[in-house]
Amino acid sequence: MGIYERAWRASTEAPESFWLKAAESIDWDVPPSRALDPSDAPLYRWFPDGRLNVCFNAVDRHVEAGRGEQVALIYDSPVSGVRSTYTYAQLKDEVAAFAGVLARLGVGQGDRVLIYMPMVPEAAIAMLACARIGAVHSVVFGGFAPHELAVRIDDANPKVIVSASCGIEGNRVIPYKPLLDRAIELALHKHDKTVILQRPQARAELGPDDLDWSDAIAGASPTDCVPIPATDPLYILYTSGTTGKPKGVVRDCGGYAVALHWSMGAVYDVGPGETMFTASDVGWVVGHSYIVYAPLLVGATTVLYEGKPVGTPDAGQFWRVAADYRVKTMFTAPTAFRAIRKVDPKGALTADHDLSHLRYLFLAGERLDPDTYHWANALLGIPVIDHWWQTETGWPIVANPVGLEIAPVKPGSPTRPLPGWDVRVFNAAGEAVPAGVEGAIVVKLPLPPGSLPTLWNDDDRFVASYLSIFDGYYLTGDSGYIDHDGYVFVMGRTDDVINVAGHRLSTGSMEEALATHPDVAECAVIGVADALKGQVPRGFVVLKAGTRREQGEVEAELVHLVRERIGAVAALKDVAVVAALPKTRSGKILRKTMRGIADGLDEPIPSTIEDPSVIEALRPILGRRRQTP
Ligand code: COA
Ligand code: AMP
Repeated sequence: MGIYERAWRASTEAPESFWLKAAESIDWDVPPSRALDPSDAPLYRWFPDGRLNVCFNAVDRHVEAGRGEQVALIYDSPVSGVRSTYTYAQLKDEVAAFAGVLARLGVGQGDRVLIYMPMVPEAAIAMLACARIGAVHSVVFGGFAPHELAVRIDDANPKVIVSASCGIEGNRVIPYKPLLDRAIELALHKHDKTVILQRPQARAELGPDDLDWSDAIAGASPTDCVPIPATDPLYILYTSGTTGKPKGVVRDCGGYAVALHWSMGAVYDVGPGETMFTASDVGWVVGHSYIVYAPLLVGATTVLYEGKPVGTPDAGQFWRVAADYRVKTMFTAPTAFRAIRKVDPKGALTADHDLSHLRYLFLAGERLDPDTYHWANALLGIPVIDHWWQTETGWPIVANPVGLEIAPVKPGSPTRPLPGWDVRVFNAAGEAVPAGVEGAIVVKLPLPPGSLPTLWNDDDRFVASYLSIFDGYYLTGDSGYIDHDGYVFVMGRTDDVINVAGHRLSTGSMEEALATHPDVAECAVIGVADALKGQVPRGFVVLKAGTRREQGEVEAELVHLVRERIGAVAALKDVAVVAALPKTRSGKILRKTMRGIADGLDEPIPSTIEDPSVIEALRPILGRRRQTP
């Protein structure tokens, strides 16, 4: 039996000792006497009697261990021209000071703080400051519009909001304050204070309840770490579900710290003093786990990059960053590599940089198409590791664990389930299917530490969405198969979630937005294949009888509407007015059939279709392929 298999077996056959051993890497104020608490199954808790502070583990303990002068965080921002570094000692001072600001504003253990910020170090500092005082942060991705932000404010009920005067998107400066003010206006919940980081690219006008970050921090008294129960929430991260109401994924402190620390060694092979560059955004789970918490928990150096893979200013920026900071492990989404390849098909820009320190490229967030895998592999000549995970899981479910034992790669598969994850494939009746047969991918309960214990304030929705479909199993929402060698192939979502440029979005919420237009009678949004972004949304609407509007005008209004309501990140650029939508006799819109036709597949027409002529009329419109420029 190889190292991987031994570890996987140990984790599933004796999870208690496996995870208690892993927990020894964390500094506890009260060490846990046991790992798993099943008393409230199917809601499981990890390390129920442990107490710790995650910020202490990510920052202070490295200073105490004599690593204060080591660089903890590198900020590299080609869009603003700034590059700076924070040693662990400096990071501790900044975080302690901002924790003091929050404490002075009345934020205490369990209170929520909403963070709506671009990729600046202060975003990570604000997150760690919350962790320091036992407050719960909820970071909202900057590409979301005021309505989406308001929904999150109303669910998380933050006491304080932390934001910045602007973000920088390529060459565009996006003022955040007007978006935030609009969201605050829309939200029913009223928070106490807003802290704004003023950026020189666009300063914000501050109101009576707003504090300037620099002023606030100048007078702050540094605050120490507050030990809290391991099962207390560290953060809430909203993610797209099938409806317009996002799911507030809760992350606990102890399980997350243990799992992330373990994953850094076993999966990413990054240890103290080594550098990890995760090109994502702190607004996504990848950013939470592998820009902020995991690299810091192990005492590594993390790179926070504010820019795009291409155009800021060129397609060689990832290579520059990797070379300048001697990055060992890099992590991004396949889309970023497709974008680089489009601009620099031969990867000629790598020649300008010394990539000899780069040992691994990890890709996740969407399916890694074999073509992109082969291109990256040939270009870099290092292991290219596809790995599969979700906001809910907090860390990878399936990966090739290079720190344990590297397995031969099968392009198209993220390899085998990691220790802690007992992955199965079921048919609709909940029976395991044979190897090679596609079905719903599920994970046997209990999920390992680090994965979501519940949804914020909504155990019922947690159980209904994930645990009630197959008794004793977590429904991932992805379909796929496991081959004879145990390799998992993830084929796509079974619900209304789509992945656009590695960003998880809900077609349901786009439909809800379209339906608010006064001329729309009904609508459908589907995700169709796109060569660059993996998937892009397309909308189809039927107008109310008697509407005498020019089609093109309504279509443009609808594109604008979704951008205004959900945000630019929704990337819905193609909405078509059609005569009718194909439905079953019971009135269900045949979205899967529409998607199949749009993707050019030989899609069978279900026998339950109400009127086959509707789909025939729609065929030419569905077939009109509009790739992103
Ligand atoms: N704030 C404000 N607007 C944002 C934003 C943010 N943080 N992030 C994206 N947007 C906007 C973009 O400017 C774009 O606006 P536009 O329609 O006016 O051009 C829109 O949202 C869509 O963004 P995106 O899908 O990212 O497209 P893009 O053309 O700007 O960039 C890629 C394409 C491939 C370069 C980019 O998506 C990328 O780097 N992807 C990597 C994926 C990634 O990091 N995923 C995270 C999970 S690992
Ligand atoms: P998110 O919650 O934003 O991380 O998105 C999670 C979803 O992205 C998963 O449910 C998958 O549909 C998809 N996904 C993430 N990583 C991969 C991968 N390596 N291969 C295929 N799909 C992936």
